[in-house]
Formats: sequence, structure tokens, C-alpha cells
Amino acid sequence: MSDAVNLLENYDDATLDQAFTGVMAEATADVATMDAEAFRLHWLGRKQGRLKTISEAWLKSAPAEARKPLGIRFNQLKQQIEAALEAPVAATAQVRGIDITLPGAVRAPGVEHPLLKTMHEIVQVFNHLGFGTNTGPQVETDFYNFEALNFPPNHPARDTQDTLIIADQQSKPARERLLMRTHTSPVQIRTMVEQAPPIRIVIPGKVHRNDAADATHSPIFHQVEGLCVDTNITFSDLKGTLDHAMKALFGSAVKTRFFPSFFPFTEPSADVQISCIFCGGKGCRKCKHSGWIELLGCGMVDPAVFAAVNEQRALAGETSPAYDPAKISGFAFGMGVERIAMIQHGVSDIGHFYSGDMRFLEQFA
Ligand code: PHE
Repeated sequence: MSDAVNLLENYDDATLDQAFTGVMAEATADVATMDAEAFRLHWLGRKQGRLKTISEAWLKSAPAEARKPLGIRFNQLKQQIEAALEAPVAATAQVRGIDITLPGAVRAPGVEHPLLKTMHEIVQVFNHLGFGTNTGPQVETDFYNFEALNFPPNHPARDTQDTLIIADQQSKPARERLLMRTHTSPVQIRTMVEQAPPIRIVIPGKVHRNDAADATHSPIFHQVEGLCVDTNITFSDLKGTLDHAMKALFGSAVKTRFFPSFFPFTEPSADVQISCIFCGGKGCRKCKHSGWIELLGCGMVDPAVFAAVNEQRALAGETSPAYDPAKISGFAFGMGVERIAMIQHGVSDIGHFYSGDMRFLEQFA
């Protein structure tokens, strides 16, 4: 920003062109550094604007025959300055010598990560069946992650879900000690402690385990949990619900089967397998030639879980237990999001999801 006016020594076309180009460069530099209103006042102000000052100075000393070419150039200059005020970015580009023949800087719009996409898809399948959505903390107490889910202290079932423990908590009672949750199941308990039945919810979220990373394992991964508690809920409700969900996720040709399994918080428990979507059940490398792929755990809510919930609710002042196993029953299930996304997209290494490699991620945009 300057106030000095260089007077013209000559009025031939070349001198005029050079002088006006100089003024425009000055205005363009100003438009990049000044706010719009200050710029307007400084350059276009009616009484003391720089354009007015320059034109008066140059016209005053101009010979009669130079007045017309000067007038024309001043009109053009004014239009250019007004345009620069409207489009300061383009003007800045010119003045900084940016090569406009190069492609522009591309700012790619963000899209959902493939894992979140799959997680939302799973949640939506259950939302459409009338399940609501709930979430809980990743830093969880021993009580919610293990004890209330019927993993007693020192029980060997805990070994299958080793995790990071928050340090320096020896002074707290065991059940209050904090750890990184190993599954989304603690949110089953949190939900039932807060709400009386009926309950139908799905719980998406991040979980942590002491698992060495390999092609199918990661110490941090994602699950979607489900819980349904009401009167007359049976194992066939569980089978029908999961069979529908697997067909919604993998296509209506997919079959499901339920294998006996064990989880401390469900009884009976089952592993759900789907017919191999790669070979249609004939047997291939992906399904280890069995025709089936194991996908998730599930079962009927163990009465010991209802007892732990009732105990918590009683501590909060409830007088008659809402989760009476003689009147209500429920089912629960939990599935790994990574595993489902890998099968959906034919991804062979779980690490791709966390690599941040755009060549991988762009395929899902
Ligand atoms: N929480 C179990 C796991 O992470 C899965 C599960 C959820 C099993 C609910 C049964 C019922 O392995």
C-alpha cells in the first residue's frame, strides 16, 4: 500500500501501457493483503482514493491529445480493480506468478472409511428390524467388561480376552479397576442397568485385545453387539433375526447354521456360520474347503447376567427386579466388523484397513 504518485514523463502508448500495468500490479498486491473494505476505500474512494489521485495527477500535466488515451485506460483500470476486489484469489495467483496452465490443487472430498461403511450397514440392517443404537466407553471397568458378564475374577475364560489394564489402580476394589474393553458386551449391561425391558439395541464400537497383528487379527478392532430382551424371546427368534441379517448383508442366497459354542454370558451359546459366499458352499480356499465361514458369536442371555443387572439396579434404589428370568428372556450376539468387511470386499489382509494407503481406500469411495 503506497500513497506516492509517479508522474509520467511521456505520453506515448508504450509508456502509458507500462504505467497502467504498474498501477494494476500495485492494486493486485494490495487486494491480497488488505481486507475488502480497506481496499475499496484506499483504491476507489471518491475523494481521496488512489485511483482518483493518480488520474488527477496524470491528467493535469497531460497534453490535450493524451487526455483521450488516458481516459480510456483509466476506465479499464477501474474495471480491473473492481474485478480484483470481487475475485481476489485469481488476482493473487496472477501477482504471485502461479502458473495457471498447471492442474489445480485437488482437494478430494472425504468419504466414509470402508470399515465405518460396513459398521453403519450392519447397524442399519438391525435398525430396520426395530433395534435402536447405543454406545459405551472404550475405557471400561472390570465389572462391566467381565464380572457382570459372568467372567468371575481369575476365571480362565478371561484369558481369551486379555487386554491393556490402566496402571496404578491397586488401591481400588477389583471390579472398579479400569481396562480397555475387550468386546462391546459391557454395553449390554450398561443398557439393562439403565432401562427396564423390553430392549432391542445394537451397539457398534471399538474394542481392544492382546492379539498379535497378522492377516486376520488386530489388537484394536470393531464389533457390533446386539441385545434383545422381552417376554417369550426364544432361540428361534435369535436364529430368524440373524438369518435375516446375514441375508441382508451378503445376499439372499446365503444360508446360516448354528454351532454349539461357549460364552460365559450366554447359555446356550452358538457360533454362526454362513455358507461360503466365494464358492456357494462347494468348498474353496477361502472357506478352507468346508463350504462354511464362521462369522459371529451369539446365544440366549445367561440368567447370571440378569442377576448382575438386578443387583446393580437394586444398588440404584430399585425395589422389585425388572429382569426376572422367570418372566423374561433374551438373546445377544456380537460380530466383528473387520471380518465382515473383509468377506464383503474380498480383502485378504486386515492391515489394509489401517494402513491409510489411498490406493486401497479410494476403491471404496
Ligand atoms: N462378546 C463376544 C466376543 O467378543 C461375542 C458375543 C456377543 C457372543 C454376544 C455372544 C453374545 O467374542
